[in-house]
Amino acid sequence: MQLITDAGFVPAARHVLPDEGVIELANDADPATLVAEFDRIALISIPFPNSGDGRGFSLARRLRNLGYAGRLRATGHVISDQYRYARACGFDEVEVADNLAERQPEQHWRDGGNDRLTYRDKLAGRRNASEPLIPDGVYAERVTEVAHYTGSLFRFRITRPAALRFNSGQFVMIGLPNGEKPVFRAYSIASPSWDEELDFYSIKVPDGPLTKHLQRIIPGDTILLRKKPTGTLVLDSLRPGRRLYLFSTGTGIAPFASLIRDPETYEKFGEVILTHTCRTHAELAYGKDVVAAAKSDPLVGELVRENLQYYASTTREAGPRHGRITTLIESGQLFSDLGLPPMDPAEDRAMICGSLAMVKDTQALLERAGFSEGATNRPAEVVVERAFVD
Ligand code: A2P
Repeated sequence: MQLITDAGFVPAARHVLPDEGVIELANDADPATLVAEFDRIALISIPFPNSGDGRGFSLARRLRNLGYAGRLRATGHVISDQYRYARACGFDEVEVADNLAERQPEQHWRDGGNDRLTYRDKLAGRRNASEPLIPDGVYAERVTEVAHYTGSLFRFRITRPAALRFNSGQFVMIGLPNGEKPVFRAYSIASPSWDEELDFYSIKVPDGPLTKHLQRIIPGDTILLRKKPTGTLVLDSLRPGRRLYLFSTGTGIAPFASLIRDPETYEKFGEVILTHTCRTHAELAYGKDVVAAAKSDPLVGELVRENLQYYASTTREAGPRHGRITTLIESGQLFSDLGLPPMDPAEDRAMICGSLAMVKDTQALLERAGFSEGATNRPAEVVVERAFVD
């Protein structure tokens, strides 16, 4: 199968969709029955049984008129001459079988569609579809990969500006070129500082000012990036020590996904322990993927295999490791499971990132054990950051 968008042909492996939230709608279906579900639908695909059957186009128009704002895909027998019309009816993309794509190379589709404003362009106040609105003083980068984990979690990868330098663990401000004044939100960079692209891990908030749009990006889209990375979860804010504990919940694992792949982390700390607690097992999948990728990475794989311990637990689904991280620390179960002594400010250091309540409670617990908060100008035993919310 070949996916075709305004950015050209997009390899299917670079756009992974969730199991939920994807709907195939027959071209004679009544779209009004779906209105109550619109917010939960990530993608509607409408089949075109043959290129003479135009019912899919009217259905797309009706869905847009009813207020559907998610992705809309035409699949099957669509030809490049119909691309412009498909976009005008509200389709975002077309999926055709490989043999059809071979007969109609990328340029045919580009010729067929790019100079027409779509409903999205008009919403964004754009005068020319091929020119995204890029404010001054920001980088405009291209999405290279998107993978959805659950109905509310996804990760994406973008090109990296050649001039962007950052320390593993820092965050940047991200926005979309969809208005005169784009909404920017803080995102921890989840890839290490040596990587040639930038990775991000995000929640999807149905009415979130940024994520309601961001969750619909696909490879080829433009992402805006403010120029100055910042943040407290950096190695320089901690005094040297024997072990580094990285405590995370939910998307708070993102800065640690960067740090566990940075050789400097292992230069400074002999042992690294990454904990990740989520409500359900499905929410742990991203962390597991990142740890597996780190272990097989040609640059840092050996360091990771020898020095990283990964400890995942769930709070609302049964499993081998159950409970909040605060409870697991207080009961001592974390340490007995890992074969380590209880935490000691003389040799252990910690970073904490997650929901506000988790950050506060974990920090309070460590402070009671003698850990004090560090900063780059005053390194100490623990640093904290709230996972960002939309
Ligand atoms: P719980 O399910 O017991 O609330 P959320 O999805 O709300 O961001 O939470 C992510 C994880 O953080 C959940 O497993 C949640 O556990 C846990 N959590 C929430 N509040 C705290 C807290 N105060 N201390 C420790 N863990 C917490």
